[in-house]
Amino acid sequence: MKEPKPQYACTECGSISAKWFGRCPHCNEFNTAQEMKPTRTAAGRSTSKSWTGSTSVVQDLKDVASVSHDRWDTGISEFNRVLGGGLVQGQVVLLGGDPGVGKSTLVMQALAHLSKTVKVVYATGEESSAQVADRAKRLGHGDAAIRLVAETSADEIVATLHKEQAQVAVIDSIATCHLDALESAAGSVSQLRECAAEFTRHAKTTGMALILIGHVTKDSTIAGPQVLNHIVDTVAEMHAEDGSSHRTMRSTKNRYGKANELGIFEMTETGLQSVDNPSALFLQRHDAAAEGSVVFGAFEDRRPLLLEIQALTEDTPNPNPRRYAQGLDTSRLNLILAVLAKHANVQALMLNVYVKALGGLRLTEPAADLAIGLALTSAIHGWKLPSSMVCFGELGLAGEVRAVPGISDRLLEAKRQGFTDAIVPPTKEPIRVPGLNIKVAKRVSDAVAFIQELRLA
Ligand code: TYD
Ligand code: MG
Repeated sequence: MKEPKPQYACTECGSISAKWFGRCPHCNEFNTAQEMKPTRTAAGRSTSKSWTGSTSVVQDLKDVASVSHDRWDTGISEFNRVLGGGLVQGQVVLLGGDPGVGKSTLVMQALAHLSKTVKVVYATGEESSAQVADRAKRLGHGDAAIRLVAETSADEIVATLHKEQAQVAVIDSIATCHLDALESAAGSVSQLRECAAEFTRHAKTTGMALILIGHVTKDSTIAGPQVLNHIVDTVAEMHAEDGSSHRTMRSTKNRYGKANELGIFEMTETGLQSVDNPSALFLQRHDAAAEGSVVFGAFEDRRPLLLEIQALTEDTPNPNPRRYAQGLDTSRLNLILAVLAKHANVQALMLNVYVKALGGLRLTEPAADLAIGLALTSAIHGWKLPSSMVCFGELGLAGEVRAVPGISDRLLEAKRQGFTDAIVPPTKEPIRVPGLNIKVAKRVSDAVAFIQELRLA
């Protein structure tokens, strides 16, 4: 038989090329080409079955039985929230995050809870059985009915899942698994993909819910979740701010719920605890007014959340000053600086500009624009703003402040947390919250005029 030609996969985005590449033509990352051995079983057959495990019978749409979406409660409310309300039969979840962020801890807690009602299997390839059992004991789940297998062969794991009739399984981690039929090393693109497809096939045909633990480290040689994105139903990533005990989890994809859902946890002595009422969690209230500091009234997943945005500037003779942003893209920072310069005469020429969202959250909402803009204005002009002020609104390129969802929820939360002033976008109906002095900014220049009035120095 003729040898099939090798193919090359990008370890970042998973795209396939027939030719080797120095820079991926799809995601433009350098040095991400990895040779993929053609997938073949010992018998020489291709293993390319559909990963949904379905056989090709053509049916009328109306005859297709819909799957019940009964949810299994993981016992961790914030994890349920990110999943879309709990685990669904046949759901395949990829849970990523840096080492030490708490992935194994979280899934152990979830399995311990699930094991009270369903059959659960934990396959560990990263740690020994003893290490996993130790963690379970530390978490107070030493007696949980969790079936544990220390195994890295995907075939063996699938056989175990069959034998145990697992209803929920965790593979910790997918990067340590390998299929013997493939020649490449564990963690390579082809291994990751084929192992994930094998497990997914099992999940889809048996209705087992599956959590695959992955890595998100961009520069590691282990392929990122991009390779597995299209195979799994749900992609969730855990994140920790350095030194903080808080953990956030965000879904970037979910076939069984809303994507971009945010879960918030606290790492404690007894594992990860859901933070159900996070509104002021990310807010370090300081009584004294501070330059460049503004509180943003966020509204993440229908939950109001208050968080501080800080900006700092310094003089520089450099005609190309630095632009540094944490928690948002530099391109967004540049865009807001351009709007400020053009429409509010707030100039950042010859200034290095730094801006960050405190608490390790990413500012995904367009509504954060105004707060970022006002933090920058306050830093650039050296205005100290009262710590009792909250703001939100999207900025348009024409300098207009645009309405955002959840305005009254944001304001009510600000009121509850003791804020007295708010700068908000225009709305059709005027919004009134007793005790809150609300200023409507139609344009970014209005908002700048408001903080000039409110400033303390
Ligand atoms: P772990 O779940 O092993 O992380 P991952 O699987 O993502 O690599 O969590 C590791 C960290 O969590 C470790 O630094 C210890 C800490 N931890 C606690 O603070 N409390 C606990 O109850 C447990 C089990 C771990
Ligand atoms: Mg782990």
